[in-house]
Amino acid sequence: MPWWEQAVVYQIYPRSFQDSDGDGVGDLRGITQRLDHLVWLGVDAFWLSPFYPSPLADFGYDVSDYTSVDPQFGSLDDFDELVAAAHERGLRILLDLILCHTSIGHPWFREHPDWYIWSPVDGPPNNWVSSFGGPAWSRDEETGRWYLHSFYPEQPDLDWRNPEVVEAFQGVVRFWIDRGADGFRLDAIDRLIKDDQLRDDPPATDTFPLPLREDAAKLQRLYSGNRPEAFDALASIRAAAGDALLVGEVFQPTSEYPRYLEVLDLVFAFEFLFSPWKAKRLRAAVGPAAELGRVAWVMSNHDFERLATRVGPENLRAAAMLLLALPGAAFVYQGDEIGLANGPGADPPFDRAGRDPMRHPMQWDATPTGGFTSGEPWLPPVDPGERNVEAQRDDPGSLMSLYRLLIEGRKLLGDGFRLLEGLEGLVSFARREHIVAINATAGSQAAPVTGPPELTTHPDPLADGLLAPHAGVVTRESG
Ligand code: GLC
Repeated sequence: MPWWEQAVVYQIYPRSFQDSDGDGVGDLRGITQRLDHLVWLGVDAFWLSPFYPSPLADFGYDVSDYTSVDPQFGSLDDFDELVAAAHERGLRILLDLILCHTSIGHPWFREHPDWYIWSPVDGPPNNWVSSFGGPAWSRDEETGRWYLHSFYPEQPDLDWRNPEVVEAFQGVVRFWIDRGADGFRLDAIDRLIKDDQLRDDPPATDTFPLPLREDAAKLQRLYSGNRPEAFDALASIRAAAGDALLVGEVFQPTSEYPRYLEVLDLVFAFEFLFSPWKAKRLRAAVGPAAELGRVAWVMSNHDFERLATRVGPENLRAAAMLLLALPGAAFVYQGDEIGLANGPGADPPFDRAGRDPMRHPMQWDATPTGGFTSGEPWLPPVDPGERNVEAQRDDPGSLMSLYRLLIEGRKLLGDGFRLLEGLEGLVSFARREHIVAINATAGSQAAPVTGPPELTTHPDPLADGLLAPHAGVVTRESG
């Protein structure tokens, strides 16, 4: 079995994890210093959001050099030390690979304009829109030509039909694998290749099951992305990556995932991530994704509402159990293990798309900066006095201790998965001889379990066949 099949992967947002030099921004050395937290939790691996040189229009997702470390985050030596420290502890390390676009400040944009996608006319050639809203075409002031950007104008899209682009990225992949990377999270790959005739996207007919900005929701992304031609490009990445783990960020319905899974190991289960905390909706999201066998279960990341804000603090224990008892790999975003909610962000905001609230620093202790920095944090901690790693580590009843128990306990769950349908207010499934039951409501619910509880979210959540509000249980059923 490949190491990642049942892995728990912890997402680190480097700017906000741990600052080691007092400049208020997290860095690679800080991550190395905090690796024992990951060991304590029992996770198998961590994914680092980008730490490459970047003008920060999209906080590192606009890369200006793919094979070095932004000085704010440290150096390649620091990276090597981090890899060594991680591997010594049995932790694997995944990097973020941003393939769809570079920063407009990347030297390639001037040195190799033919690596990018340009309009053949003097203006936008079609109706494509950017994921962040507005037209996907902007005028390059220097040349007067119009270029494509699926995200911010500072992120021009690469032309993956150009073999030189493919080669350049194969080199990037090999560079990091040679330095010890165990895999990659592939950013925004459903935008990798676009229609070569640049045809207009038709009006949307169905509602897209994932949230879109208003203008994007009006169109069906038929030509501006999610193209079958992308698979050759992805195969070239696979060829360079060998058996390193490839996890795809495919912002598409679950039904689109099988073809990506021909090349990739895992794709994030986005319908699950966005499901409201309602039993029926959760079941509808879990069922088809579980059938694919190879999704990465995920409930939050650096782009969307934090879990505590989205499902409410009262449901966090049950959400942790659900995430970690589903079959296959699971991703946990830093801070979710202590129940960190969205913060206030900054005024003026750093991120124009409104994602500062999900990126506040980790809270390690109860000091005013939460132990994140000895300086002025780039974003203030939200509530370190109320929740922090130090206090929760010492408290066996804390959310963080529950994460640890669930990460350990999930190893007991056999393979196999059967969703139990028709149960009011519950998400319940069988994992060989175990039954997992999660009560997604504020009332007690009849639960289909008879065996002794092996893992619970709350003390004694079962009484007279009823599962307590907001609670979850794993039982071993006999026969
Ligand atoms: C992905 C990243 C997001 C970024 C976007 C463009 O969705 O997760 O943070 O803004 O790609 O690179």
